[in-house]
Amino acid sequence: MKFSLKATDPKKLEADLLLCFVWDETSDKHFFFTKELDLIVRDAIKKESFEGKINNYLSLTPKGFISSYKLLVTGMGKKEEFSPYILRKAVAGAVRKAKEIKPKKVGVVLPEYWLKTLDTKDCIQDIVEAVMLSSYRFLKYKDEEERKKYSDFDELIIIVPPNRIERASEGLEKGVIYSEATYFARDLVNEPAAVTTPSFLAECAQNIAKDAKGKIKIQILDTAEIAKENMNAILGVAKGSDEPPKFIRLDYKPYGAKKHVVIIGKGITFDTGGLSLKPGEHMEKMKIDMAGAAAVLAVFKTLPKLNSKVSVTGIIPACENMPSGRALRPGDILEAANGKTIEVLNTDAEGRLTLADAISYVKKKDKPDYLIDLATLTGACMVALGEDIAGLWSNDEGFARILTDLSQKTGDNVWMMPLFKDYSDLIKSDIADLKNVQAGRYGGAITAALFLSEFVGNLVWAHLDIAGPAYESKDNPLIPKGGSGFGVRLLLRFLDDIK
Ligand code: BES
Ligand code: ZN
Ligand code: ZN
Repeated sequence: MKFSLKATDPKKLEADLLLCFVWDETSDKHFFFTKELDLIVRDAIKKESFEGKINNYLSLTPKGFISSYKLLVTGMGKKEEFSPYILRKAVAGAVRKAKEIKPKKVGVVLPEYWLKTLDTKDCIQDIVEAVMLSSYRFLKYKDEEERKKYSDFDELIIIVPPNRIERASEGLEKGVIYSEATYFARDLVNEPAAVTTPSFLAECAQNIAKDAKGKIKIQILDTAEIAKENMNAILGVAKGSDEPPKFIRLDYKPYGAKKHVVIIGKGITFDTGGLSLKPGEHMEKMKIDMAGAAAVLAVFKTLPKLNSKVSVTGIIPACENMPSGRALRPGDILEAANGKTIEVLNTDAEGRLTLADAISYVKKKDKPDYLIDLATLTGACMVALGEDIAGLWSNDEGFARILTDLSQKTGDNVWMMPLFKDYSDLIKSDIADLKNVQAGRYGGAITAALFLSEFVGNLVWAHLDIAGPAYESKDNPLIPKGGSGFGVRLLLRFLDDIK
């Protein structure tokens, strides 16, 4: 799909379909497109049953009045409730609706209010991301006939005022880059676990480094090298599997960078639960347990394109959690890389074991300004926040605020949760320093975060439990069913904005 910007009168644009957006009947009726367009829309609204609510669409063929063949009017609900989120939802919904008639050339008319209330760059970036994210499909394993059903537009033209073209083109460029990064993560998550093995992720990281032509350095530790770093918790999780673990480190270090950010992605390529085996229906989608790793790889694929000015290190402890005669047993004790001992009472709480070593490694080797981990860590976080919101834990309020604000901008929703110290008692072991599951049933996402905090020390750190939003279980206009690419745009935006 080709995107372009045009400073033209909407009525003169020759497209197969023109998309425009209106408020509901109780809100402002002044659309300010052009006189002709306003009249057509107002007249149609009067005569047809269209209320301008979210998910209301009105398709018109106003022959002779405008140069485009068709017009699709999309409702946005109440003007007072407008937000970038409503914009993205409205655009994604309009794109889905538009695709029913398979137009090739599509124009977008911006309501004046969008440009009045949003920065032009952000507004165009949001539109482009909504169009691209809603157009994503994972069709690699489908036949030709099925693929044909999902054709993209050939061209999407966004009409902007002439004095906004420059800012708008920055937004267009960013929107395409961010969306492609999200596609990359979605693809990785959607691939079966038989494909995305730890070795595959390592190879993928190697290709990213190669393509970056010297801008990204890579280091991949194999089993023996992981042992040399005393990362026994990773080895403990990996030992039940025939797939060897890989500890992946990527470094992007631009000249003159003032800040250093480390991002860690949980990379369990398949989580059976180990000997604490998951029941079938819980195991079904456990190929997604590397969604954090996928987000980290997507960010590194993108950093050279953005010419980011911040140093970024990506860490992926990649392994598979399998039951076998060699597997970790409930009751076994592991010594993590920082010397702390962990009694493993449930082999299904494996993510925190691999992250404990990854965090200890970062603490020893690097002194980052910010450390972020992304992990599909607990079902308990989904119980707390549902499938669309990630839990955010941080030992730094300012950092948490930055991420929360960016989450509103990007639509990668996060909600701040407490690192409630009293609960730390629940993960003390009788015979080791820590145990990997808590005493009692409640607050499992918090105790998982507290477990990680034991390895963080005084680093400025944020933990995102993405178990819910990493995967979309029902088709949604912005995220088709499957891997969502959650966190990619949030991270990119954070790295882009950092001073
Ligand atoms: N990978 C799972 C968490 C998960 C659940 C991710 C659902 C995505 C969707 C994690 O390793 C796990 O199994 N956690 C256990 C922890 C428990 C044994 C303390 C859980 O949440 O049940
Ligand atoms: Zn597990
Ligand atoms: Zn897991």
